[in-house]
Amino acid sequence: MLSCYIIYITDLLKYSFHYGDGTQGNMEIVKEILEWKIRRNALILAHNYTRPEIQDIADFVGDSLELSRKAAECHAPVIVFCGVRFMAETAKLLSPESIVLHPNPLPGCPMADMASPEEIRAYRAKHPDAGRRIRQHHGGYQNGGGHLLHQRQCGKTSRLPAAGQASALPSRRQPGANIAAKLGRKIELWPGRCPTHNKILPEHITAARQRHPIAIVLVHPECVPAVVALADHALSTGGMLRFVHESAQKEFIIGTECGILHRMRKENPDKAFYPLEPAVLCPNMKRITLEDVLNSLRDMSPAVELEEEVLRRARAPIDRMLEVR
Ligand code: 13P
Ligand code: SF4
Repeated sequence: MLSCYIIYITDLLKYSFHYGDGTQGNMEIVKEILEWKIRRNALILAHNYTRPEIQDIADFVGDSLELSRKAAECHAPVIVFCGVRFMAETAKLLSPESIVLHPNPLPGCPMADMASPEEIRAYRAKHPDAGRRIRQHHGGYQNGGGHLLHQRQCGKTSRLPAAGQASALPSRRQPGANIAAKLGRKIELWPGRCPTHNKILPEHITAARQRHPIAIVLVHPECVPAVVALADHALSTGGMLRFVHESAQKEFIIGTECGILHRMRKENPDKAFYPLEPAVLCPNMKRITLEDVLNSLRDMSPAVELEEEVLRRARAPIDRMLEVR
């Protein structure tokens, strides 16, 4: 119990250090969240795109694959998952014995909803011999919750484009074509797209390069191929964070959701990170607030519930996804 309180005090100090005096209102909520977290023996997981104040109270912040791995190995009685719904469902699939709280049940991922279980069933009926399918469109990948995953043979992650080697995509290659070349397989592209990354246009990259001529351009593989072609690297959010940390370069143009800038700046204070203009924002990822986290921990609700059948059948595609390095 003593160690729990030491963690609690450290978290509180960390939070006030980052936010200073400007967030007295939040400080009260943060204090309550940390108290409830101990009472519930809960672990807070947050995606790299969530609000900065959510990232700061989380025990672990990561990309979709890292969060899945964390959920699989944490054995926490309670997981508070801050991200979009399919990610929270994946955490439940990987840690079925945990109570997985999704503090605000509204944030879905529009891209995940671009494939329904019926469509996948129809597709598989038409292509019974289909092997491992990775559904991609315009350099993106297809997200999906438990109800979709149990229809599939492989789950998704933005690292799939580089499956088999490091998470960095060679620049100027479309991820779908890149996977096909790497695996030597035919890959069909599902017509899904991320509305947030689709807003990034080639002219935004060109303008940012003009403003910051020596900066390295990193984009997410969900951007359209014309954007990926103008970038130096297309990486998952976790891949971007590792890249900027390890790079000797000091300036980076970041072509993805703006939430990632918080961690980049915090972890690399000696480097400069330039968002694109206009800024890229996923409203779904920004929906979960500190109040939501507090309420969910206090009420132990809303919890992710998945049918037994889904839990059983979705496990194999998820396990294959976790094999991605
Ligand atoms: P990452 O897997 O790179 O974190 O991406 C998740 C996502 O939703 C990107 O839009
Ligand atoms: Fe879905 Fe795109 Fe938002 Fe990621 S950024 S959660 S893919 S809508």
